[in-house]
Amino acid sequence: MATKPAAKSASPIVLDRSNQHYPDLESRSAGLFERAVKVLPGGNSRMTVFHLPYPVYAARAQGSRVWDVDGVERIDFINNLSSLVHGHNHPEIVKAIQAQAATLASMSMPTEKEVDLAEVITGRVAGIDRIRFTNSGTEGVMMAIKTARAFTGRDKIAKIEGAYHGGDDAVAVSVNPSPALWGEADAPASVPVSGTGRGAASDTIVLPMNQVEAARAIIRRHASELAGVILDPVVKNLGYKPATKAFAQMLREECDAAGALLIFDEVYSFRLGYHGAQGELGVTPDLTALGKLIGGGLPVGATGGKAHVMEAVYDARNGAPKLSHGGTFNANPMTMAAGLVAMRLWDEEAVAHVARLGDRLRNGLREVLKIADAPGRVGGVASMISFFHSEGVVETYRDAVELFKANPGMHARSDAFFKHMLNSGIIMASHGFFVLSTAHTDDEIDFLLEQALSALRKMG
Ligand SMILES: Cc1ncc(COP(=O)(O)O)c(C=O)c1O
Repeated sequence: MATKPAAKSASPIVLDRSNQHYPDLESRSAGLFERAVKVLPGGNSRMTVFHLPYPVYAARAQGSRVWDVDGVERIDFINNLSSLVHGHNHPEIVKAIQAQAATLASMSMPTEKEVDLAEVITGRVAGIDRIRFTNSGTEGVMMAIKTARAFTGRDKIAKIEGAYHGGDDAVAVSVNPSPALWGEADAPASVPVSGTGRGAASDTIVLPMNQVEAARAIIRRHASELAGVILDPVVKNLGYKPATKAFAQMLREECDAAGALLIFDEVYSFRLGYHGAQGELGVTPDLTALGKLIGGGLPVGATGGKAHVMEAVYDARNGAPKLSHGGTFNANPMTMAAGLVAMRLWDEEAVAHVARLGDRLRNGLREVLKIADAPGRVGGVASMISFFHSEGVVETYRDAVELFKANPGMHARSDAFFKHMLNSGIIMASHGFFVLSTAHTDDEIDFLLEQALSALRKMG
């Protein structure tokens, strides 16, 4: 097994990473992956955290730090793709989970914690007067779409080309379509992701991101059949591209005119502001899907909405509800207890802290690119940061594909950078994303920047 000294840097951060260099086929992680491929197709259950030649297996974590099964310490700059807004094992969240596990872990009765968490969320999100909990963001989105259909009596949903909203058929459409299939720019084709039925995809309309007039024209063509338009206010696959106010306002106007519902998928983007992305945009949707951070690190999702929408479809006091919604683990007390503490800790000060760190990281990465004289672009907003190894302007999914075609070496650079960072004690998402938590410090951001500069220099 290769032996490396602890990370050398000018910052006060010293990491215990003395016994491994990645990739190392003799490591415990490599051995675990060898076992995994025999029992899990592709060796895992979650392709978003897989990378070649094998993923590093985590053993334990605390705050911003994670130790892998070989004892290597790294700083976690991805935070379970947004859900760990307070880092790992926050003592108050751990205490709440332990107390709940010892009291009531799951039960076929509602609990007070469900009401508590619902009160906290409805108290701070303009578009959520009523909320129902699920166990994943995928389910939160799925129920928001079903709610829009039950409320309007219509079938069609419009979504943004290139946006990911989880695994439900209605939105697993045109997530990463190839140019050969994507159709005309003013009438994008609905391209099912593998596994999505063509019938389901035919109920999904595709819109270009932030293209106000082009998207307006498409919505108007389908207005009478449209149940809802779903927008992720910060599209990760476009480098955490925020929706413009003009675009969100146009969607609001056109949904109102069409009698359709505006749905915000804030599963990821909820961390944008204290009142969610909708608070920052100043546009209030009829329905909001939530997930990730509202569960305090445990599995969660939710569908929230304006009272007249939610009561019209879910309330059994008015006769049989229009929409049935069950789930063995919905609003399970463990998640509710963890989420309640996480949300209470996620106050205005916490939101401002991670946004400030996000600015420090974005500005620092731009500086690093200049110093290293390397191609790249830095994007994102608040605590979500993207770092890609090509230059150019990306507004829509098609721009991103064109840019990639023009820079064929970009993926190899991205992979090399990711591996350099992994070997310098930095965990990021392999395709160029960082997500911060309240556990991060200025010193850790500066450490990341030093490692990024050194990686780019080594890459040449
Ligand atoms: C915007 C968005 N919506 C929905 C989902 C699905 O959430 P989950 O992975 O909890 O099912 C994700 C997951 O990353 C997401 O980023």
